[in-house]
Amino acid sequence: MRKYHQLLLVIISCISIIVLLTYKSENSRLKDVLSAVHFFSRKDADELRLLNNFTAAEDDIINFNRPLPVWQLIGDSFHAYASYYQRNDLVPSGGEVLTLVTGKTGAAVNFRCKAHYDDGRDIQGKFRFQHLNQEDNIDVAFTNYVFYCRLKNDLGEPNSIVYTDLTGDGSNTNRKLRLRFVKSAQGSNVPQTQVAICMDLVSFNMSSSFGKSYSKLIEFFIHHYVVGVNQFIVYNGDELTELILQKLMKHKNIHLQSLPFNFPFAHNKNNTSNLRELIKTDCLLRSMHKAKYVTLLEPNEFLFPNAKLSDDNSVLYSLNSYSTSETIYELQTYSVCMDGKNELLSNNSFYDPEVVQPHKINIFRPVVPSSSTSSTTNLAPSLAFAHRYTDCVHVGNDGLHMLQNLLRQDFMNNLIKIRKEVRELMYN
Ligand SMILES: *[C@@H]1O[C@H](CO)[C@@H](O)[C@H](O)[C@H]1NC(C)=O
Ligand SMILES: *[C@@H]1O[C@H](CO)[C@@H](O)[C@H](O)[C@H]1NC(C)=O
Ligand SMILES: *[C@@H]1O[C@H](CO)[C@@H](O)[C@H](O)[C@H]1NC(C)=O
Ligand SMILES: *[C@@H]1O[C@H](CO)[C@@H](O)[C@H](O)[C@H]1NC(C)=O
Ligand SMILES: *[C@@H]1O[C@H](CO)[C@@H](O)[C@H](O)[C@H]1NC(C)=O
Repeated sequence: MRKYHQLLLVIISCISIIVLLTYKSENSRLKDVLSAVHFFSRKDADELRLLNNFTAAEDDIINFNRPLPVWQLIGDSFHAYASYYQRNDLVPSGGEVLTLVTGKTGAAVNFRCKAHYDDGRDIQGKFRFQHLNQEDNIDVAFTNYVFYCRLKNDLGEPNSIVYTDLTGDGSNTNRKLRLRFVKSAQGSNVPQTQVAICMDLVSFNMSSSFGKSYSKLIEFFIHHYVVGVNQFIVYNGDELTELILQKLMKHKNIHLQSLPFNFPFAHNKNNTSNLRELIKTDCLLRSMHKAKYVTLLEPNEFLFPNAKLSDDNSVLYSLNSYSTSETIYELQTYSVCMDGKNELLSNNSFYDPEVVQPHKINIFRPVVPSSSTSSTTNLAPSLAFAHRYTDCVHVGNDGLHMLQNLLRQDFMNNLIKIRKEVRELMYN
């Protein structure tokens, strides 16, 4: 019996030693595995960081273009571009839809409207309309309107609006127009930008030598980027070439959102003030709660603030101190002559004081258009002004004047600094 005990002990000892040895070798293998796992996890962390960096950059992309606006037929004689839903904060329930519309001049406006909700319900609203630019000459083929649809029942936010033309034969009715929310309930957490630029490539002659110039169009964006604007909403953005977009994409902080503008009527190319009014209205509605201020510019129009917009003493500081009921700030605009010898547009220093400006250049506080005309505040040129670059073919009797003579020394020094930076970004 004892012999068996001893044998058992020896066997157990042997097994223990074998187990111990096996464990030891497996352990070292395990270590390899662990270090490999560790290696992978470190790589994952790096990739995660890279991803985070990527999304961090995505975070400041403000939605200026969804749903994408496009001119589409409603009824027989009317087209709608974009529709906005504004919740009415004064009445506890309900809201209003505003739609930008153009129609054949003389066509009767006789519509019904209903809102369509996510749960499939359609709710009838109360229709009314307003002319967008009433002081129009009548010989234009089209007339612009804002259509309104007031909604009483609050079933949450509708997702689209349907206008039914009561005079038509019913063939073009019931087209659902997607709504853009002036202020969304499921609010995005992207902070609003200080100043956004709406760029009008609809009114501007893009077949002109200016419109075809790569360097002039690039300078427009880089100049405004350097003074502190990085959000651009471009109407008819497809006019910009791939080359321009590629150059701008290198500056990750230039955010350019392109909108189509397939205007359905032939328009007087000599006078596009009717289209400009439409674009202005869309720009203001589109940037509400997304930008504190906006300006509508054509590519030959440059904004010159007294300092970079991020500086404490910039024109923004003055704008913020005005009452919020003042929504239009007019900029002094100089018609600056382009001299081909200068490498930058902003190098040009002569202007013609007698040129009649085709339109005013303003900075707006974005608000819903109202029938009550808001007053315009003139901004002192010591705060900000604008240049409009032109070929001075017919110079006025008074001749050309020097821009330098208008400016205080500190403003001039700022301009030189900005110009240097623009040059650096454009050519390096
Ligand atoms: C993420 O961005 C930070 C700061 O901009 C930078 O230091 C870091 O190297 C970036 N990480 C990666 C993985 O690119
Ligand atoms: C646009 O520019 C081109 C080229 O300079 C010119 O031929 C054309 O007449 C211009 N169009 C308008 C409407 O001014
Ligand atoms: C536009 O202007 C040109 C020259 O200035 C003129 O010949 C043409 O008739 C005008 N077009 C319209 C539609 O007024
Ligand atoms: C264009 O038409 C509008 C409205 O008829 C008028 O007020 C404006 O002076 C015109 N502009 C030009 C440059 O002819
Ligand atoms: C244009 O301005 C820049 C920056 O101030 C300056 O360096 C450059 O010499 C100027 N070029 C011309 C042709 O005036």
